[in-house]
Amino acid sequence: MLESKHLQKTYTWKPVFRPGVSVLAVRDVSLQIRAGETVGLVGESGCGKSTLARCLAGLEQPSDGGVFYHGEEISRLSLREARVLRKRIQYIFQNPVNALNPYRTVAQLIAEPLQHFRVGNQKTRMAAVQRLLDMVELPIDDMDKYPAELSRGECQRVNIARALILEPEIIICDEVISALDVSIGVQILHLLKTLQRKQGYGFLFISHDISRVIQISDWIAVMYMGLLMEWAPAAGFHAEALHPYSQVLLQAVPSLIPGEFVDHPSTAVEIPDPVFPQHGCPFHTRCPYATDVCRREVPAFRSVGQHTVRCHHAEAVR
Ligand SMILES: Nc1ncnc2c1ncn2[C@@H]1O[C@H](COP(=O)(O)OP(=O)(O)O)[C@@H](O)[C@H]1O
Ligand code: SF4
Ligand SMILES: [Mg+2]
Repeated sequence: MLESKHLQKTYTWKPVFRPGVSVLAVRDVSLQIRAGETVGLVGESGCGKSTLARCLAGLEQPSDGGVFYHGEEISRLSLREARVLRKRIQYIFQNPVNALNPYRTVAQLIAEPLQHFRVGNQKTRMAAVQRLLDMVELPIDDMDKYPAELSRGECQRVNIARALILEPEIIICDEVISALDVSIGVQILHLLKTLQRKQGYGFLFISHDISRVIQISDWIAVMYMGLLMEWAPAAGFHAEALHPYSQVLLQAVPSLIPGEFVDHPSTAVEIPDPVFPQHGCPFHTRCPYATDVCRREVPAFRSVGQHTVRCHHAEAVR
């Protein structure tokens, strides 16, 4: 299990001749990703999803709080233990083409993590490449091709194969279908879910598309301005979301009727600047239920039924 506890990440920009400004990219986020389960992380662009994911993958150090893998805080691991961890948690990025070195063949790209970690020899690595090509449903003939000879969807399959070759436990998929055509994205999701059923991977699936995330997740985590606003089972989330921001995201989902788009009036309001966070609940400038206490106090993250929610008035909203 991979989990964050009260994770905080601040970036400070220091322009020349001007005082530095800080962005609180992630604030007090605690969540768990278990083997065999998918956590869907949603929220608008800039809310801190990738920053949280990079901290969970050990690619960045949290400013405060911690990341724990099977109970061990990863910043306290020895170099040897950290090396093992880098095999067990893999990250797949949004842009499938940029993530691949254009001068290497598909076989070299897929075998690269094995070489990096000095696993096996040339013969066993090539056998592993063939096995992985089969798993991600690419033909063996693609082994000698270069990324430029592949479609974007095929490139993403190569990235998935690279992520799987070290037999990870947790895979972080950061907007992995956002740069793909809808039908190709659906095929990639289907592939990931099939692999999860067979191999028991735990997924953190990040997307700004809440309807897609609900379909494939066991748990939904909704983020806004660096804070986790709601954590709940994905089943029934459409009807049972408690946080006003979750409801806005759900109402902004395109209608199934062609030409019709359902949007909540409050989404039109400008999103607050993360460099200058205001007092109280960060959503109060957009929230139809906001009262004085919302403008004054950051709500606690608390249980309401099966949901954990950061809202002073969650019971009334329901
Ligand atoms: N390396 C960085 N340096 C400075 N600021 C950053 C960096 N990475 C992200 N940020 C800032 O942190 C906030 C969250 O960004 P990000 O995690 O990329 O959001 P998301 O993935 O949800 O779009 C944004 O305000 C972004 O500008
Ligand atoms: S705490 Fe207040 S402003 Fe924030 S989401 Fe709840 S009702 Fe809206
Ligand atoms: Mg991102």
